[in-house]
Amino acid sequence: MRDIKITAASTSIPSQTISNQQLSEIMDTSDEWITKRTGIKSRHISNKENTSDLASNVANKLLKQVNWQAEKLDLIIVATMSPDNMTPSTAAMVQGNVGAVNALAFDISAACSGFSYGLSIAHDLMLANNYQKAMVIGAEVLSKLIDWKDRSTAVLFGDGAGGVILESSNENHFLGKDLKTFGQLGDNLIAGHTSIAEDFRKNDHHLSAFQMDGREVYKFATKSVPNSIISATKCVKIALDQIDHYLLHQANSRIIDQVARKLKQPIDKFPININEYGNTAAASEAILLAECIEKEVIKKGDVIALSGFGGGLTIATIIYKF
Ligand code: ACO
Repeated sequence: MRDIKITAASTSIPSQTISNQQLSEIMDTSDEWITKRTGIKSRHISNKENTSDLASNVANKLLKQVNWQAEKLDLIIVATMSPDNMTPSTAAMVQGNVGAVNALAFDISAACSGFSYGLSIAHDLMLANNYQKAMVIGAEVLSKLIDWKDRSTAVLFGDGAGGVILESSNENHFLGKDLKTFGQLGDNLIAGHTSIAEDFRKNDHHLSAFQMDGREVYKFATKSVPNSIISATKCVKIALDQIDHYLLHQANSRIIDQVARKLKQPIDKFPININEYGNTAAASEAILLAECIEKEVIKKGDVIALSGFGGGLTIATIIYKF
């Protein structure tokens, strides 16, 4: 075995869609503001399925695509910032739900960079342990973490899941990567803060909703994403022009436009689906990747840059050849 290959990709999207117009009926916002500032037109909001349900659905769809039994899986990684529980992990729940009795399963928390972090960790673990088959899933029900009275964050996020199967390969596919964490900037984006009760007898625990300094995250993204893509390509001596598709975390279409401009790459190399899903954090890159494969936007031999950024603050770029 020389490397690891993506052999299947799939998604699970809650059926309920909420348009900007619908949001404007419950908070002081408008379709015009949301569309102009973010590119988002609607988002999917779960009303029944929790994160492990969406992730398990992706896992079952992936297994159907590859047509082998769950027992063959060696590893399941779920990237999420909105797990069902602190424990068990969402990955352990997926493992149990699909019957992947031989798989090591754990979650990783890297917010919107989670899917790229997960791919990198799975790749390295597979090579180190001679694992043959793995699954990496990004899954979120962010609506659980939204304060529906805070228009500055409520309009941005959506629910969904996507994932891939990884298998051993004799050809090189993972060409380069750049993963970084900026913990000193972490306060710019917090969700699910757990408070400590002043008096433990009062049983006064709760999880906090999203709090974000949008402008700071915007500045971070428009600077760090181009730098990360340049670092990942430089270390493997690939020119930016040789990248066929740039699959960026879907947080804001203006961020994507700016990154394209900074990298001097045509905008049609940057597929976009934020209009339909909003920001789905760790699921965002996975959903976009699965859609690009399904619609044959990505073809055999194409080189892609997958680049995620978000809470932590974190950044992760993977250069992958199909
Ligand atoms: N509807 C109408 N008006 C609004 C809304 C809304 N939903 N939200 C804010 N406003 C108002 C503000 O109150 C403000 O009004 P004021 O000028 O009277 O004070 C005005 O609009 C401008 O607000 P800003 O916050 O300055 O707007 P900005 O242009 O910065 O856009 C946004 C905000 C969309 C959040 C942008 O900053 C952004 O995309 N930041 C990046 C976020 C991001 O990428 N997050 C990714 C990480 S997510 C993760 O890791 C989970």
